[in-house]
Amino acid sequence: MARKYMMAGNWKMNKTIGEAVVLAQDISNQYEDSWLKNCDVVVCPPFVDLKPVKTVFEFDRIEIGVGAQNVHWAESGAYTGEISVPMLKETGCGWCIIGHSERREMFGETNEGVNKKAKALLAAKINPIICVGESLAIRDEGTTLDFVCAQVKAAFAGIEPDEAKDCVIAYEPIWAIGTGRTATPEQAQEVCAAIRSTIADMYGAQVAEEMRVLYGGSMNPGNVSLLIAEPDIDGGLIGGAALKKESFVQLIEACK
Ligand code: 13P
Repeated sequence: MARKYMMAGNWKMNKTIGEAVVLAQDISNQYEDSWLKNCDVVVCPPFVDLKPVKTVFEFDRIEIGVGAQNVHWAESGAYTGEISVPMLKETGCGWCIIGHSERREMFGETNEGVNKKAKALLAAKINPIICVGESLAIRDEGTTLDFVCAQVKAAFAGIEPDEAKDCVIAYEPIWAIGTGRTATPEQAQEVCAAIRSTIADMYGAQVAEEMRVLYGGSMNPGNVSLLIAEPDIDGGLIGGAALKKESFVQLIEACK
């Protein structure tokens, strides 16, 4: 079974509600049904923008998914500043990024936390987009594959195969995020293939064949085609280039 590409925009901490609605409307105005033949399209705005962005897509009746950028694993309680899975669910959000390197580095997110978040999301039928990736120091040390595959194993610990298949993994080398320095297609392919073989070891060949592995890190209209031509790269998790309608649409069109 051929995997469908996925292009997911991570808006990070950008766009007020008003700005987010404008960008969603701009994307919606460019929308073509043909996008979805080969590609699932998702945007992940800040929490406060989720409902307004979802409303734009619903009103226009277009099948662009909406995702969050983080979540807490508890149902509710004394966790000041956090957002729960049921809260996300009510916004109509179908996806959630977890384990992004910015959260791991700046907000103390751990492999164990990523695993708890994945389980809580899967129980509510929100699909996790699980981010993994190495620092430049780890790449220079030559331990990238061990490091990234250990992150994958930890994220999936205790998750059953019928739920694992609903997850997407995003390989984002930290040194390529927001730097303009993209991994070469060969570098990205090597790690994405290792991720898929880790999934095959854990869940068997069929789940590994079906699961999408995205690349993220300075993906743009100029480098997308060579990256997604690699056999184990099934699309992108995009930061900067997802904040402009023109470049985001070009990335989606590259999947046609
Ligand atoms: P850039 O595309 O801006 O490098 O960001 C990638 C990223 O972190 C997506 O999650």
